[in-house]
Amino acid sequence: MNSERTVTNVKDLKGKVAVITGGASGIGLAFARRCLQEGMQLALADIDKNALAKVEQELKAEKAEIITVPVDVSKAEDVENLCNQTYEHFGSTDILFNNAGVGGMGLAHVAPLNDWKWNIGVNLFGVIHGVHYFVPRMIKQDTEGYVLNTASIVGLALTHVEAPYSVSKGAVVMLTETLQLGFQAINAKLHASVVCPGFITTNILHSEQHRPADLQNPETEAMTPEQAAGIEMIQKLVASGTSPKEAVKIAFKDIPFPPRRTLQDMIEIGIFTNLVIKGMPVQECADLIFREAIEEQKFYILPNGTMRPYREAILKRAENTLAGKDPEAPWKR
Ligand SMILES: NC(=O)c1ccc[n+]([C@@H]2O[C@H](COP(=O)([O-])OP(=O)(O)OC[C@H]3O[C@@H](n4cnc5c(N)ncnc54)[C@H](O)[C@@H]3O)[C@@H](O)[C@H]2O)c1
Repeated sequence: MNSERTVTNVKDLKGKVAVITGGASGIGLAFARRCLQEGMQLALADIDKNALAKVEQELKAEKAEIITVPVDVSKAEDVENLCNQTYEHFGSTDILFNNAGVGGMGLAHVAPLNDWKWNIGVNLFGVIHGVHYFVPRMIKQDTEGYVLNTASIVGLALTHVEAPYSVSKGAVVMLTETLQLGFQAINAKLHASVVCPGFITTNILHSEQHRPADLQNPETEAMTPEQAAGIEMIQKLVASGTSPKEAVKIAFKDIPFPPRRTLQDMIEIGIFTNLVIKGMPVQECADLIFREAIEEQKFYILPNGTMRPYREAILKRAENTLAGKDPEAPWKR
């Protein structure tokens, strides 16, 4: 927290404007609900037009002042349009939540190139675009404001099982650190926070449905429909209590694993499913983010900050860095 800044009284947020990308589901939608409790106006953006329309209808029925803008955050022109529409409609932005994101598994040398392009495009360039178009206008506004960027705990603590995702999130941490240093350097009335969740119960496991056609993997690397159904079966079985190992055995009894995927990769899909399903409830997470970023002006926000493997990994990473040692994963593969 920057001690020279006055802590905002949340009552001040009535009538102010929040822009939230990835606002049609999960953490983004829960954050929108929290902002509405404060009487804020909302610009919600998402790639999923149907989910966005449903959310708009639902929130307008609750008398929310809201605009919705279909956006692919990986496309600069879409985010520029979101920014223009927000300023045309509301005339300001007070909280910018660069939150849209997708998941991506795979070791660095195994993950298909399109997985890299998709993860870096949405998770990193989505945030870069938000910062690029909104922040100069927020600075010009010359009012107190907040920029929240969603990274992940894996952007701070090492993990080797999901390289495209971890790399994109590590870069978002660095981007947000430089953003906040920039705010301090020019004495801006803005404060940045980087949000680093552990496991939160959302729709993140189903983010494949948001992958655009031009980034589908070529046939040699793509899953067959049967293999995609197999992965869904692993998720369903794990959700109903089957162990990840057993779920993989059942789901892939008669079909080969998807290209370049090992047994361990498939078991990890089950482990991640389990962790997300048993994760922190999403509204609890959004309320914590709101409190720490807006009311307390914390910079690093770790909703599951005390989760043991990651806490240890953060400390270990710092130790290993200084000692020149090899990186260590939060859990053994
Ligand atoms: N759920 C977790 O355990 C967890 C952990 C760490 C970080 N995160 C991060 O939290 C953020 C929110 O994810 P969530 O868990 O709420 O998942 P979610 O899938 O419920 O919500 C993500 C939203 O982003 C939207 N989206 C996807 N691609 C987009 C694009 N190109 N442009 C615009 N919108 C797009 C989706 O349609 C969806 O509505 C993401 O950045 C994610 O990486 C989540």
